[in-house]
Amino acid sequence: MPSSQSKDQRKPAIIILDFGSQYSELIARRIREAEVFSLVMSHRTSVDTLRELSPKGIILSGGPSSVYQEGAPICDPSIWSLGIPVLGVCYGMQLMVHQLGGSVEAATGKAEYGKAPLNVDVSTGLLNQVVNGSTMWMSHGDAVKELPEDFVCLAHTANTSKAAIASYERNLYGVQFHPEVVHSIHGMTMIRNFVYQICGCEPDWTTTTFIDEAIAQVKSQVGAKRVLLALSGGVDSSTLAFLLHKAIGDQLTCMFIDQGFMRKGEPEFLTDFFDRKFHINVEYINARERFINKLIGITDPEEKRKIIGNEFIRVFEEESARLGPFDYLAQGTLYPDVIESAGTNSDGKTGERVAVKIKSHHNVGGLPKDLQFKLVEPLRSLFKDEVRKVGRSLGLPEEIVRRHPFPGPGLAIRILGEVNNQKLHCLRDADLIVREEIRNAGLYNDVWQAFAVLLPVCSVGVMGDQRTYDWPIVVRCVSSEDGMTADWSRLPYETLEVISNRIVNEVNGVNRVVLDITSKPPGTIEWE
Ligand code: XMP
Repeated sequence: MPSSQSKDQRKPAIIILDFGSQYSELIARRIREAEVFSLVMSHRTSVDTLRELSPKGIILSGGPSSVYQEGAPICDPSIWSLGIPVLGVCYGMQLMVHQLGGSVEAATGKAEYGKAPLNVDVSTGLLNQVVNGSTMWMSHGDAVKELPEDFVCLAHTANTSKAAIASYERNLYGVQFHPEVVHSIHGMTMIRNFVYQICGCEPDWTTTTFIDEAIAQVKSQVGAKRVLLALSGGVDSSTLAFLLHKAIGDQLTCMFIDQGFMRKGEPEFLTDFFDRKFHINVEYINARERFINKLIGITDPEEKRKIIGNEFIRVFEEESARLGPFDYLAQGTLYPDVIESAGTNSDGKTGERVAVKIKSHHNVGGLPKDLQFKLVEPLRSLFKDEVRKVGRSLGLPEEIVRRHPFPGPGLAIRILGEVNNQKLHCLRDADLIVREEIRNAGLYNDVWQAFAVLLPVCSVGVMGDQRTYDWPIVVRCVSSEDGMTADWSRLPYETLEVISNRIVNEVNGVNRVVLDITSKPPGTIEWE
């Protein structure tokens, strides 16, 4: 079994073998939109594993390499005779052609990037209902020159004579374009043709089936044992709390550690909401003093993050011992965290995905891997948008389902330099105004994050007839798909005006409001 696949997990109907494309995950998501369960796996996956998983179809992703390049990623050639339909996308199609005896060449002077009208030559099977002349998204340097034996050409574009191909005898298909990207107008039609008509998949990956299966799986895994969940109030841990509560009721204990860096009213909202409204057992741990005391005199962002992260783990260990014993720890691990895939390293060679450390991030406010608990991770096959659907279907209100991401170290990394209670108080008030006005303008669901940052420098202002010498607040509002890259949101002047007026009038200690207009990169979303 591949490491991302436990033996009780649902088997994928479609497997995407990843050759390093930035779109591999997107292919998986598109197939799931067609209600067919799909997983991304490494191109190194053995044929034995594939046979064991027995998917109804395989898709080979694109990738940055050329098939003739030394060390280019390949798949086991016995894949072509497995008897399972295969669709090669871009590099995947070129690899198919190359391994089966056709030829691929550099499309010198004819590289195609961007939109191109697709001329459909055979409008049945894979391209059924794909309108002739409809736009498809191209992104390739190499192109197929000669087809292997048994293959026919299904479509072409102005620059690519073989843009879609098929071998009906062998049930193999290839497309040079990217049906998964939103610019490919009939891309989804083609994907549906492949999964339903060619592979014979059923649309059975729905929120309801997921919830039923996850509940059954958790019940069988946990039995009568106790489960602990560290609740943060974000959509992942909240969905998990609802799902587990439905599965095991009072065997679940949610622990909510208030480190003192939450947004205004959040601790009260969370305990009230889960405990009183839904009768989900939440242990509220007030650790505010501990955290703020640890941060006295600390100004370096990395040091702050480390102190908060370590303190969180310490509190968690102490409190779980006090409330326990627990046999299981529930974690809101999602599918993008477990995908094993071959990305492209910064040196251009394919290998395991690498991430450069910019901030000691995403496990700040999380737990280390070596805790002495067995793990329950029922969301590990889901993408974020699927978690939202599941949460909604379990009865989580939109307020939580559509909640903006909030970093583990909370407001402590939105106060530059040393954190103290006065600054926290000030930032909380300003932050609430930013979020309220973004909601009032109907923009909350359109932006990725909207928040305030407090700068610990003073500037001169005048209020009434008084000179002021106070802090500025930065308004940070960004749009993003996944937090990896982001652009600053072009907020209407009217909204900015209200935000600015309200902050200087209502928040003590602030006399100036500035707007952050930096994209990521080169900026990061958070300021520390
Ligand atoms: P940056 O600042 O790196 O943030 O552009 C990208 C996204 O990650 C969130 N973020 C965190 N989330 N723990 C988290 O759980 C953290 O320590 C952390 N730091 C940043 C940030 O809010 C943004 O959505």
